[in-house]
Amino acid sequence: VSQIGEGVSIVDEEERFVFANAAAEKVFGVKPGGLVGRNLSEFTSVKDYTKLMQKTQERKAGKADHYELEILSKTGMTRQIIVTASPLLNRNGEFEGVLGITHDITETRELEAQLRQAQKMEAIGTLAGGIAHDFNNILMAMIGYADMVRLNASEDSQISSDIEAVLKAGMRAKELVKQILVFSRQMDHELKPVMPHLVFKEALKLLRASLPSTIDIVQEIHADCGAVLADPTQLHQVLMNLCTNAHYAMRNSGGTLTVALQRVDFDASVKESHLQLAEGSYIKLTVSDTGHGMDKKTQERMFDPFFTTKPVGEGTGMGMATTHGIISSLGGTINVISEENIGTTFEIYLPRIEPQAFWGDDGAGQSIETRGKGKALYVDDEEQIALLGQRMLEHLGYSIISFTKSTEAFRHFQANPMDFDFVITDQTMPDMTGTELSQRILQLRPDIPIILVTGYSEQVTPEKAKSIGIKEYIMKPLVLSELGEAISRVLEREQKSESI
Ligand SMILES: Nc1ncnc2c1ncn2[C@@H]1O[C@H](COP(=O)(O)OP(=O)(O)OP(=O)(O)O)[C@@H](O)[C@H]1O
Ligand SMILES: [Mg+2]
Repeated sequence: VSQIGEGVSIVDEEERFVFANAAAEKVFGVKPGGLVGRNLSEFTSVKDYTKLMQKTQERKAGKADHYELEILSKTGMTRQIIVTASPLLNRNGEFEGVLGITHDITETRELEAQLRQAQKMEAIGTLAGGIAHDFNNILMAMIGYADMVRLNASEDSQISSDIEAVLKAGMRAKELVKQILVFSRQMDHELKPVMPHLVFKEALKLLRASLPSTIDIVQEIHADCGAVLADPTQLHQVLMNLCTNAHYAMRNSGGTLTVALQRVDFDASVKESHLQLAEGSYIKLTVSDTGHGMDKKTQERMFDPFFTTKPVGEGTGMGMATTHGIISSLGGTINVISEENIGTTFEIYLPRIEPQAFWGDDGAGQSIETRGKGKALYVDDEEQIALLGQRMLEHLGYSIISFTKSTEAFRHFQANPMDFDFVITDQTMPDMTGTELSQRILQLRPDIPIILVTGYSEQVTPEKAKSIGIKEYIMKPLVLSELGEAISRVLEREQKSESI
């Protein structure tokens, strides 16, 4: 009995242990021999204990039973167990106590909770992403037309200042949609090797300057932890989100904010049970505060989009949702440890990569030419948007022929391939998608610059667009200045390659 994996223990009529094997002692968190003589009440909540006393009455009536119980282990952890309890009778058939066989299901329950959480996030992500996609298209028309109104309004008129307000609100909505899309992981980002310690050091400088002196910042950033594949702006955002939350949790009391970055390697032997991480090398970011902490309910919901415990108007509740989206899209994991009135610790694990010699250059040209020259083929299946695109391009000084049917657009291009200087096409269209159209156009004119316009959730990654030969890739909603910049970039590149 002493060797078996299940906990076996016997309690007498007063719930005092008279026997326990090693596995039972482990569940209760006591030293070998440390259970006998103690009372079960030390290890359970008052409520559970009352229930147990009732169950003992049933045992006395000779009934066996099994049920779940929460054990307050002496190590400070709570453990979930399933108990199979049977009455123990002496030789004369009189009740002597209860034999309990306990099966520890703490890990199973944790895994179930993790799975539920993952499924919930997946479902919310799909839903949010779908709404955001449609919403984004609506926004595109609103921002675009408002932009046109502004251009036509005389500068110091009432209309001009009113429309400014419309545009400002539109931009805020655009930001929000972007966050939802980051959360639902439907936004493509170009990932490149990043040394996170550089990003985080930079962010911490900013934080030190903005956090009050009632908050101590302790930094333990190891510079030699290596690189991860990520988007530096997103990493920056993750740390800012975590630290602003930590600050908020300590706003009244003050406290210590600890930010640590280190390399950790998991092999089969050091598998930490609560983390579902594959073997390998990781970079671990720890952000810890001594603030008010979170109760169980808050912990369960904190990653939900729009979940906030802040007063109305103070927070959007998108901070943790965005953080979750970013970390998941990088193949990372977030672990949260929080206790009320003590504080909260976030541990983030990101897969480490071997930094290669190649560090992508990001010297994108910045010049914005306002008066354009050239002729464009513009394709969008939505008439409103095609019209808007046409007006935007004309405003920028380009001449343009626009189509709402990609097949027609292609036929026209086929007949006059040398007529155009560049092509702007929407991605999602019936008959022929933007990428298909681009491929066919590039067969006729391999040199022609193409700008692909997509919604966030469309399945074209920048890499894919590039491999087809598409020069630029912009996302809805279109903003005049972004469109203008994209066009002057492709045309500039064109000139450069000609002059070589
Ligand atoms: N470090 C922390 N300490 C205590 N509670 C936290 C902490 N981090 C997050 N929370 C809880 O999780 C909730 C959601 O956080 P999240 O960052 O998503 O939204 P928010 O901070 O409320 O709003 P926003 O980030 O938009 O200003 C918070 O309202 C808070 O209840
Ligand atoms: Mg927040």
